[in-house]
Amino acid sequence: MQVIAIDGPSGSGKSTVARAVAGQLGLSYLDTGAMYRSVAFAVLRRGLDPEDVEAVAKVARDVEISQGDDAVTVDGVDATVEIRGPAVTSAVSAVAANPEVRAELRSRQREWVRAHDGGVIEGRDIGTVVCPDADLKVYLTANLDVRAGRRHKEIEDLDYDRVAADLASRDTRDSSRDHSPLVMADDAVLIDTTDHSIDEVVAEVLRHL
Ligand code: DC
Repeated sequence: MQVIAIDGPSGSGKSTVARAVAGQLGLSYLDTGAMYRSVAFAVLRRGLDPEDVEAVAKVARDVEISQGDDAVTVDGVDATVEIRGPAVTSAVSAVAANPEVRAELRSRQREWVRAHDGGVIEGRDIGTVVCPDADLKVYLTANLDVRAGRRHKEIEDLDYDRVAADLASRDTRDSSRDHSPLVMADDAVLIDTTDHSIDEVVAEVLRHL
Protein backbone atom coordinates (compact mmCIF):
# COMPACT_ATOMS: atom_id res chain seq x y z
CA MET A 1 0.00 0.00 0.00
CA GLN A 2 1.35 3.40 -1.00
CA VAL A 3 -0.02 6.64 0.50
CA ILE A 4 1.02 10.10 -0.71
CA ALA A 5 -0.27 13.08 1.33
CA ILE A 6 -0.36 16.50 -0.31
CA ASP A 7 -1.23 19.53 1.84
CA GLY A 8 -1.05 23.28 1.41
CA PRO A 9 -3.10 26.47 1.19
CA SER A 10 -5.69 27.33 -1.51
CA GLY A 11 -4.27 27.82 -4.98
CA SER A 12 -0.95 26.16 -4.18
CA GLY A 13 -1.60 23.62 -6.96
CA LYS A 14 -2.57 20.66 -4.77
CA SER A 15 -5.44 19.32 -6.87
CA THR A 16 -3.66 19.56 -10.22
CA VAL A 17 -0.45 18.05 -8.87
CA ALA A 18 -2.21 15.33 -6.84
CA ARG A 19 -4.29 14.24 -9.85
CA ALA A 20 -1.21 14.12 -12.10
CA VAL A 21 0.87 12.17 -9.56
CA ALA A 22 -2.00 9.70 -9.06
CA GLY A 23 -2.33 9.31 -12.85
CA GLN A 24 1.39 8.65 -13.31
CA LEU A 25 1.52 6.08 -10.54
CA GLY A 26 -1.82 4.43 -11.29
CA LEU A 27 -3.12 5.32 -7.81
CA SER A 28 -6.56 6.57 -6.76
CA TYR A 29 -6.99 10.26 -5.91
CA LEU A 30 -9.06 11.88 -3.13
CA ASP A 31 -9.84 15.62 -2.85
CA THR A 32 -10.73 16.11 0.84
CA GLY A 33 -11.50 19.82 0.31
CA ALA A 34 -14.39 18.66 -1.90
CA MET A 35 -15.70 16.65 1.08
CA TYR A 36 -15.74 19.74 3.36
CA ARG A 37 -17.33 21.68 0.50
CA SER A 38 -19.96 18.95 0.09
CA VAL A 39 -20.93 19.20 3.78
CA ALA A 40 -21.19 23.01 3.43
CA PHE A 41 -23.38 22.49 0.33
CA ALA A 42 -25.69 20.14 2.26
CA VAL A 43 -25.89 22.61 5.16
CA LEU A 44 -26.91 25.50 2.88
CA ARG A 45 -29.36 23.30 0.97
CA ARG A 46 -31.12 22.48 4.24
CA GLY A 47 -31.29 26.21 5.09
CA LEU A 48 -29.06 25.76 8.18
CA ASP A 49 -26.54 28.20 9.65
CA PRO A 50 -22.93 27.03 8.95
CA GLU A 51 -21.98 28.29 12.45
CA ASP A 52 -24.61 26.08 14.15
CA VAL A 53 -22.17 23.49 15.53
CA GLU A 54 -24.69 20.79 16.49
CA ALA A 55 -26.83 21.00 13.36
CA VAL A 56 -23.79 21.02 11.05
CA ALA A 57 -22.26 18.02 12.86
CA LYS A 58 -25.48 16.07 12.30
CA VAL A 59 -25.45 16.94 8.58
CA ALA A 60 -21.85 15.68 8.32
CA ARG A 61 -22.80 12.33 9.88
CA ASP A 62 -25.87 11.88 7.65
CA VAL A 63 -24.74 13.25 4.28
CA GLU A 64 -23.91 10.94 1.40
CA ILE A 65 -20.95 12.20 -0.64
CA SER A 66 -19.75 10.52 -3.79
CA GLN A 67 -16.69 11.64 -5.78
CA GLY A 68 -16.27 10.39 -9.33
CA ASP A 69 -13.50 11.31 -11.76
CA ASP A 70 -14.92 14.75 -12.47
CA ALA A 71 -18.24 14.89 -10.62
CA VAL A 72 -19.30 15.26 -6.99
CA THR A 73 -22.74 14.08 -5.89
CA VAL A 74 -24.22 15.09 -2.53
CA ASP A 75 -27.30 13.15 -1.35
CA GLY A 76 -27.86 12.11 -4.95
CA VAL A 77 -27.72 15.70 -6.31
CA ASP A 78 -24.97 16.76 -8.74
CA ALA A 79 -23.04 19.43 -6.77
CA THR A 80 -19.92 19.58 -8.99
CA VAL A 81 -20.31 23.24 -9.95
CA GLU A 82 -22.02 24.56 -6.83
CA ILE A 83 -19.42 23.31 -4.36
CA ARG A 84 -16.91 25.67 -6.08
CA GLY A 85 -19.32 28.64 -6.05
CA PRO A 86 -19.18 31.72 -3.79
CA ALA A 87 -21.91 30.60 -1.33
CA VAL A 88 -20.19 27.31 -0.48
CA THR A 89 -16.74 28.93 -0.53
CA SER A 90 -17.75 31.47 2.13
CA ALA A 91 -19.48 28.85 4.30
CA VAL A 92 -16.80 26.15 4.14
CA SER A 93 -14.25 27.52 6.64
CA ALA A 94 -16.85 27.51 9.46
CA VAL A 95 -17.86 23.97 8.54
CA ALA A 96 -14.20 22.84 8.41
CA ALA A 97 -13.52 24.35 11.86
CA ASN A 98 -16.25 22.16 13.43
CA PRO A 99 -14.48 19.34 15.38
CA GLU A 100 -17.32 16.85 14.91
CA VAL A 101 -17.34 17.44 11.16
CA ARG A 102 -13.58 16.84 11.10
CA ALA A 103 -13.90 13.63 13.13
CA GLU A 104 -16.55 12.28 10.75
CA LEU A 105 -14.68 13.19 7.55
CA ARG A 106 -11.35 11.99 8.98
CA SER A 107 -12.83 8.55 9.53
CA ARG A 108 -14.37 8.50 6.04
CA GLN A 109 -10.98 9.53 4.57
CA ARG A 110 -9.13 6.75 6.42
CA GLU A 111 -11.78 4.29 5.28
CA TRP A 112 -11.24 5.48 1.68
CA VAL A 113 -7.48 4.82 2.00
CA ARG A 114 -8.15 1.27 3.26
CA ALA A 115 -10.74 0.56 0.57
CA HIS A 116 -8.45 1.81 -2.24
CA ASP A 117 -5.32 0.21 -0.83
CA GLY A 118 -3.63 3.62 -0.59
CA GLY A 119 -3.70 6.55 -2.99
CA VAL A 120 -2.90 10.23 -3.37
CA ILE A 121 -4.91 12.27 -0.89
CA GLU A 122 -4.86 16.05 -0.72
CA GLY A 123 -6.09 18.61 1.81
CA ARG A 124 -4.86 20.58 4.81
CA ASP A 125 -4.29 17.99 7.56
CA ILE A 126 -3.49 14.82 5.63
CA GLY A 127 0.20 14.50 6.57
CA THR A 128 -0.34 15.78 10.12
CA VAL A 129 -3.59 14.06 11.19
CA VAL A 130 -5.37 11.86 8.65
CA CYS A 131 -2.40 9.81 7.39
CA PRO A 132 0.57 10.53 9.69
CA ASP A 133 2.28 7.36 8.39
CA ALA A 134 2.06 8.34 4.70
CA ASP A 135 4.98 7.13 2.56
CA LEU A 136 5.52 10.64 1.25
CA LYS A 137 4.23 13.96 2.61
CA VAL A 138 4.35 17.01 0.39
CA TYR A 139 3.56 20.56 1.46
CA LEU A 140 2.88 22.81 -1.53
CA THR A 141 2.96 26.57 -1.28
CA ALA A 142 3.12 29.63 -3.56
CA ASN A 143 3.00 33.36 -2.97
CA LEU A 144 -0.43 34.95 -2.46
CA ASP A 145 -0.44 36.81 -5.79
CA VAL A 146 0.16 33.64 -7.77
CA ARG A 147 -2.37 31.63 -5.75
CA ALA A 148 -5.04 34.33 -6.15
CA GLY A 149 -4.25 34.57 -9.87
CA ARG A 150 -4.84 30.81 -10.27
CA ARG A 151 -8.17 30.96 -8.41
CA HIS A 152 -9.20 34.06 -10.35
CA LYS A 153 -8.69 32.17 -13.61
CA GLU A 154 -11.05 29.43 -12.37
CA ILE A 155 -13.81 31.86 -11.32
CA GLU A 156 -13.71 34.63 -13.88
CA ASP A 157 -16.89 36.37 -12.73
CA LEU A 158 -15.28 37.70 -9.52
CA ASP A 159 -12.72 40.48 -9.63
CA TYR A 160 -9.12 39.73 -8.70
CA ASP A 161 -9.02 41.87 -5.52
CA ARG A 162 -12.08 40.13 -4.12
CA VAL A 163 -10.63 36.68 -4.90
CA ALA A 164 -7.29 37.61 -3.28
CA ALA A 165 -8.98 39.00 -0.15
CA ASP A 166 -11.27 35.95 0.24
CA LEU A 167 -8.37 33.57 -0.23
CA ALA A 168 -6.21 35.37 2.34
CA SER A 169 -8.97 35.38 4.94
CA ARG A 170 -9.82 31.70 4.35
CA ASP A 171 -6.16 30.74 4.72
CA THR A 172 -5.95 32.68 7.98
CA ARG A 173 -9.04 30.88 9.31
CA ASP A 174 -7.76 27.47 8.16
CA SER A 175 -4.32 28.06 9.72
CA SER A 176 -5.49 29.49 13.04
CA ARG A 177 -8.40 27.18 13.92
CA ASP A 178 -8.14 25.01 17.06
CA HIS A 179 -8.72 21.63 15.38
CA SER A 180 -6.28 20.26 12.77
CA PRO A 181 -5.11 23.66 11.49
CA LEU A 182 -3.17 23.94 8.24
CA VAL A 183 0.47 23.39 9.26
CA MET A 184 3.33 21.65 7.55
CA ALA A 185 4.21 18.21 8.98
CA ASP A 186 7.77 18.03 10.38
CA ASP A 187 8.63 15.28 7.91
CA ALA A 188 6.99 16.85 4.83
CA VAL A 189 8.86 17.94 1.72
CA LEU A 190 8.27 21.65 1.03
CA ILE A 191 7.79 22.65 -2.61
CA ASP A 192 7.22 26.27 -3.59
CA THR A 193 5.24 26.21 -6.86
CA THR A 194 5.39 29.99 -7.49
CA ASP A 195 7.84 29.82 -10.39
CA HIS A 196 7.37 26.22 -11.49
CA SER A 197 5.18 24.53 -14.07
CA ILE A 198 2.89 21.66 -13.12
CA ASP A 199 5.18 19.19 -14.89
CA GLU A 200 8.19 20.42 -12.91
CA VAL A 201 6.36 20.06 -9.60
CA VAL A 202 5.04 16.60 -10.49
CA ALA A 203 8.56 15.50 -11.46
CA GLU A 204 9.91 16.79 -8.16
CA VAL A 205 7.26 14.90 -6.17
CA LEU A 206 8.08 11.70 -8.04
CA ARG A 207 11.79 12.26 -7.41
CA HIS A 208 11.16 12.42 -3.66
CA LEU A 209 9.16 9.22 -3.82
O1 DC B 1 -8.98 22.83 -0.92
P1 DC B 1 -10.31 23.53 -0.89
O2 DC B 1 -10.24 25.02 -1.11
O3 DC B 1 -11.33 22.91 -1.77
O4 DC B 1 -10.82 23.33 0.61
C1 DC B 1 -12.06 23.82 1.04
C2 DC B 1 -12.01 24.16 2.52
O5 DC B 1 -11.94 22.98 3.32
C3 DC B 1 -10.86 25.06 2.94
O6 DC B 1 -11.38 26.19 3.62
C4 DC B 1 -10.03 24.23 3.87
C5 DC B 1 -10.91 23.09 4.28
N1 DC B 1 -10.19 21.82 4.32
C6 DC B 1 -9.77 21.36 5.56
O7 DC B 1 -9.98 22.04 6.55
N2 DC B 1 -9.14 20.16 5.66
C7 DC B 1 -8.89 19.42 4.57
N3 DC B 1 -8.28 18.24 4.70
C8 DC B 1 -9.28 19.89 3.29
C9 DC B 1 -9.92 21.12 3.20
